[in-house]
Amino acid sequence: MIMPNDPTPRVMTAEAAAAWRDGLDAQGKRVVFTNGCFDLLHTGHVRYLDQARALGDSLIVALNSDSSVSALKGPSRPINNEGDRAEVLAGLRSVDAVVVFSEPRATALIRTIRPHIYAKGGDYTVDSLNPEEREALDACGAEVQILSLVPGRSTTDTVAAMKKSSPEAINRVPRLGILGSGKGTNLLGILAAMGAGTLKAEIAVVLSDVADSGILTLAENYSLPGAWVNPGQHPNRLELAAQKEIRDRLRSAGVDIVVLCGFMRILKEPVLTAFEGRIINTHPSLLPRYPGREAWKQALEAGESEAGCSIHLVDSGIDSGEILTQHRVPILPNDTPELLHQRIQEQENAHYPAAISALWRRCC
Ligand code: GAR
Repeated sequence: MIMPNDPTPRVMTAEAAAAWRDGLDAQGKRVVFTNGCFDLLHTGHVRYLDQARALGDSLIVALNSDSSVSALKGPSRPINNEGDRAEVLAGLRSVDAVVVFSEPRATALIRTIRPHIYAKGGDYTVDSLNPEEREALDACGAEVQILSLVPGRSTTDTVAAMKKSSPEAINRVPRLGILGSGKGTNLLGILAAMGAGTLKAEIAVVLSDVADSGILTLAENYSLPGAWVNPGQHPNRLELAAQKEIRDRLRSAGVDIVVLCGFMRILKEPVLTAFEGRIINTHPSLLPRYPGREAWKQALEAGESEAGCSIHLVDSGIDSGEILTQHRVPILPNDTPELLHQRIQEQENAHYPAAISALWRRCC
């Protein structure tokens, strides 16, 4: 418990706070009172306390003691002890006094201090206040003010951000969801990079819209979880049921990044939103030139002197979306579509793994 001779002058006992309130009252000033645990202070608290202070002339914060925080939030809390929490609060521009209390509720303190205004965070309504607290507030004639919370700023958000920066989270490797329709050369390139240790990742699942595709055989040969997703009746579209099944299978496999390896149908909702900014594709042309099927043939037939591959994020268009990297491949005098595609695929295999690693660092 904080002692009256605490080195931080604004941390005081209930009796000292009551005497101080009387002094202000005699001057016609209004005292605002609020209470809480204030364990991990964040901007939501700072702005909330600023708003509370603006309601009157002086702000008293009743701070739950360590034992009452444990009783309310469980044995792992508080993270910071009451002395530290009181000192940090007392250092805020909006806070005039801090009183530590040991009961689960601030009812007794309200009776002692008799604030003019009682402020509470916006997840409460006047009716949802504890009845005893409400009675104590009514008895001293305190006005109740519910203040809005700051969206996205909460102890839960702070704890989530801390977990994300924990050593386990930092060292975690991405779980890849592979989607392909063809032979699976790109998947082989990814597996080779994983084997060589240049791509740190796990293959969570391999999905294909083609039941007898090479990529599903490859998954089986490498003992990777694989499944055929029935695309529906249309020859080259993916029906809504298939889009949903893909979303659900990727989610239940715990996929972080969706990697398209020659997947020849267009992904739409609900897949795009579920993995927004986390779907990557490699396309065998220098986009925006030659989107669509057999792009290497299109470049050859157009008489281009060079082709290549583009690794890009996936959006709702055909081979559109932000381009992450591009790699050029010269077209040789006697090139055939097969030879050109093979050289483009060598570039895809060389660069796709690094692009996947870069996306993991950027998005997750
Ligand atoms: C790859 O060259 C890939 O770039 C292309 O399909 C081929 C798949 O080969 N993708 C597209 O054209 C996407 N629009 P694979 O099945 O042997 O990996």
